[in-house]
Amino acid sequence: MRMRNKQRKSATLRCCGGSRCLTSVAIWSLLGCLLLLNLFSNVRHKATEYGESQLLASHHPLFRELQQVDEENIQIPPPRGKRSPRAEKRRPKRATTLVDEFLNEESQLRHIFFPGQESAIDPKKNNENDSYYYHPGRIWLDTDGNPIQAHGGGILFDKISRTYYWYGEYKDGPTYQSPQNGITRVDIIGVGCYSSKDLWTWKNEGIVLAAQETNETHDLHKSNVLERPKVIYNEKTGKYVMWMHIDDANYTKAAVGVAISDTPDGPFDYLGCQRPHGCESRDMTIFKDDDGVAYLIYSSEDNSELHIGPLTEDYLNVTSVMRRIFVGQRREAPALFKHRGTYYMITSGCTGWAPNEALAHAAESILGPWETLGNPCIGGNKVFQQTTFFSQSTFIFPLPGLPGSFIFMADRWNSADLRDSRYVWLPLIVAGPADRPLEFNFEFALWSRVSIYWHRKWRLSRVGWV
Ligand code: DGJ
Repeated sequence: MRMRNKQRKSATLRCCGGSRCLTSVAIWSLLGCLLLLNLFSNVRHKATEYGESQLLASHHPLFRELQQVDEENIQIPPPRGKRSPRAEKRRPKRATTLVDEFLNEESQLRHIFFPGQESAIDPKKNNENDSYYYHPGRIWLDTDGNPIQAHGGGILFDKISRTYYWYGEYKDGPTYQSPQNGITRVDIIGVGCYSSKDLWTWKNEGIVLAAQETNETHDLHKSNVLERPKVIYNEKTGKYVMWMHIDDANYTKAAVGVAISDTPDGPFDYLGCQRPHGCESRDMTIFKDDDGVAYLIYSSEDNSELHIGPLTEDYLNVTSVMRRIFVGQRREAPALFKHRGTYYMITSGCTGWAPNEALAHAAESILGPWETLGNPCIGGNKVFQQTTFFSQSTFIFPLPGLPGSFIFMADRWNSADLRDSRYVWLPLIVAGPADRPLEFNFEFALWSRVSIYWHRKWRLSRVGWV
């Protein structure tokens, strides 16, 4: 009897379990269907995006031109002067690399990285068929014929005057080793500003934020550091807002400064500096999103990670929101851009003034998660690709009239004479699938490839400009 009861109980249980089971099967199937649907629409959306950019890339002759890279085959010359076989035996000479040659101011290859007299910007000579040719690494002159001083800078397109403004470090002073720490530096002179209607001929608008000559306690005293200035316009306040890296000569202050102006060509009033979110801030940039929200992105925690957070509505401060990204990865020189709703970033490694490998990153939301896509550099040769074409990222500017194409702006630092650092501007295109198999999640991110194409010379055609 007991046995029968037990059987009945278990039968009841089985029966109950069966109906519950059916319900849960139904729920799970529904969830599964929804998930699949979401997955499908996401992949389709991404695939359409990818397909469209592919279509653009293959159909626009200018895209194809921008993607045709130059290859470099540079032979390292044998060491000068003969060494005796005995000396060779005692201390065999280490074979030099292209990077050693780049960093050696006595190198016979110096002219390759820092060409002498050939000037890139001479409007009459260079303008063929209504096109402007960029020569990365050459000396770029302003409209007065003087070398442009806008290092570590960025471009603002001023919609009011329909003019481009290029801001950067004005480094036209002597390079010396800081006696305290041996760091190679130039005293602060200020932030240089150049204006242009065509992104190619640049008029010197002067120093829009100047160093302090006498007040030693001022952040902008010439003995300190002012790097990587960037300017955005605030529609609500009608102010042009500049953010910049502020430091002492030892790079221990690790702060970020803000200045404002009523006009893009200055003068800018310096408002002060801070450690954002109470954290160290060295290499930095700002990014203004389509919805008008601006963000500060900076290297922190001894450059071991990047921080990203929105600015206040007036762009004069950070908010309490901050996310840590690329933790432990030691990235600096961040440059952000957005394409079809996806955020992209290029960063460098941390090797002082020496060049290193760039990485491209992408995110669906600006605060992350960010994924690393890989090295974006194509062409030149392996060393060129591993050194970001002997340069370091500073800013990425959308090419007018060619969606999906950007100008990658970088600095080729000349550590022997920082004022003679050169500009490496190259076409950057978002198209094709990313080369790294990336982390999968339910979004099935199908990132596009970010590619920077090496050209000894490339043209920015006015055809297709808005
Ligand atoms: C690398 C940074 O990206 C530059 O802006 C500058 O701070 C140098 N380091 C100084 O060594």
